[in-house]
Amino acid sequence: MANLWIKKSISSLQGEAEGEKAGLKRTLGARSLVALGIGAIIGAGLFSITGGAAGNNAGPAVTISFIIAAVACGFAGLCYAEFASMIPVAGSAYTYSYATMGEFIAWIIGWDLVLEYAVGAATVSISWSRYFVKFLGYYDIHLPASMTMSPFDTATLADGTVVHGMINFPAIFIVVLMSLLLIKGTKESATVNGIIVLLKVTVVLIFIALGWGFIHSENYQPYIPANTGEFGSFGWSGIVRAAGIIFFAYIGFDAVSTAAQEAKNPKRDMPIGILVSLAICTVLYILFAHVMTGVANYTSFQGADGIAPVAVAIDHMGTAGADGVIVPAYPWLNKAIIIAILAGYSSVIMVMLMGQSRVFFSMSKDGLLPKIFSQVHPKFGTPSKSNLLFMVFVSLFAAFVPARVVGEMTSIGTLLAFVLVCIGVIVLRKKQPDLPRSFKTPLVPLVPILGILSCLAMMVALPGDTWLRLIIWLAIGFIIYFGYSVKNSKLNNPNKKD
Ligand code: ALA
Repeated sequence: MANLWIKKSISSLQGEAEGEKAGLKRTLGARSLVALGIGAIIGAGLFSITGGAAGNNAGPAVTISFIIAAVACGFAGLCYAEFASMIPVAGSAYTYSYATMGEFIAWIIGWDLVLEYAVGAATVSISWSRYFVKFLGYYDIHLPASMTMSPFDTATLADGTVVHGMINFPAIFIVVLMSLLLIKGTKESATVNGIIVLLKVTVVLIFIALGWGFIHSENYQPYIPANTGEFGSFGWSGIVRAAGIIFFAYIGFDAVSTAAQEAKNPKRDMPIGILVSLAICTVLYILFAHVMTGVANYTSFQGADGIAPVAVAIDHMGTAGADGVIVPAYPWLNKAIIIAILAGYSSVIMVMLMGQSRVFFSMSKDGLLPKIFSQVHPKFGTPSKSNLLFMVFVSLFAAFVPARVVGEMTSIGTLLAFVLVCIGVIVLRKKQPDLPRSFKTPLVPLVPILGILSCLAMMVALPGDTWLRLIIWLAIGFIIYFGYSVKNSKLNNPNKKD
């Protein structure tokens, strides 16, 4: 009878990480890891979701929502940093749980991470597709609307006809492109990511710097608009609801931990990669939101989605003519932003896809998944077959599922992973207090407990159908675990030949 609670010893994991058995190449330094984090973090959350959260939920106080979500992510980030420096193996939260809570919980978390990374990549590719269509529109190129949306989406054309989607081709295109880049090599991918990060951070800084001069303090009155009587619609409940919504903007810092086996000095650089990228993005997000709601009144973002929120803000950066109409001072900024968004979303998709293949890599090495997921390409040194399989899987989601569904599945999957990592830190501190830890989460158990509570609170705020999807996804995982993994687990079947 298999032991569902069997645990991997930390020393064997550390041996795995140091022994280079895995075959992944160690090419990433601290700077690349921070860039990897920022590459995964800044994306649809900032450019698409912030406006709606300000307009519909929090008003100018969306800055407070950003602080609340950052604090929750900070608790989880500190826990990730302890594990990632102590157990620098590609499996991230999956591996940490294997060492602390046993194989079954590890399986749940590994399976759950598909929601964060693979489904997350699909979510951002759908947003990418929307901007791509807009971008082509600037040059009078118009793709048939039915080829740019899932079958569950509709669009109203200029002449009033309603078109139903069939398949989202641009979303498939970007997933395929990023998968091929990943197969080519981690170093190449990190170089492309570094360039994109530079571009998107520069555009965010330009937006903040140019916008600052056009802030009208009356737009901050009232800073916290009165609640409308409905939970989540302004007032403090609106701030909390907005925090749950913009949580998506922070997803990605943990993806750094999946590159642990490709880091040159993971013990030192993992905490730097995770925490510095999170800190930089937090500051940028708060300033961005402050400028956005300062140049344009929050009511202008009501119902806004897509490029609209940022474009609305840019259109308000100017001086009003005699007729009261604002003449934008920087009309070129709209196009620059759209280019940064297209590039920026690509890097989010790339890092998510990379994280996904690395988690399955570790699960496959442990025998819980077929060997194909850990076969490394002889020349490129990347898990190419795994990348190809996920290219197909993610493309299917990107092509046929609407953005809201995949977006909320990403959030709930990520939050569950964060909760389990926070629990893992407490468990390991109790069971093995003397293990050397090059980075220690401060104030244990307070920080992990606060991490658990804040993530659970955000999970509870998600709609019931998202919970149902999570349960169905986990149920599929149980079938695979009991049908395949238990019988092939290396830890449970030490005598089984490869
Ligand atoms: N944080 C990432 C984004 O906002 C997932 O796109």
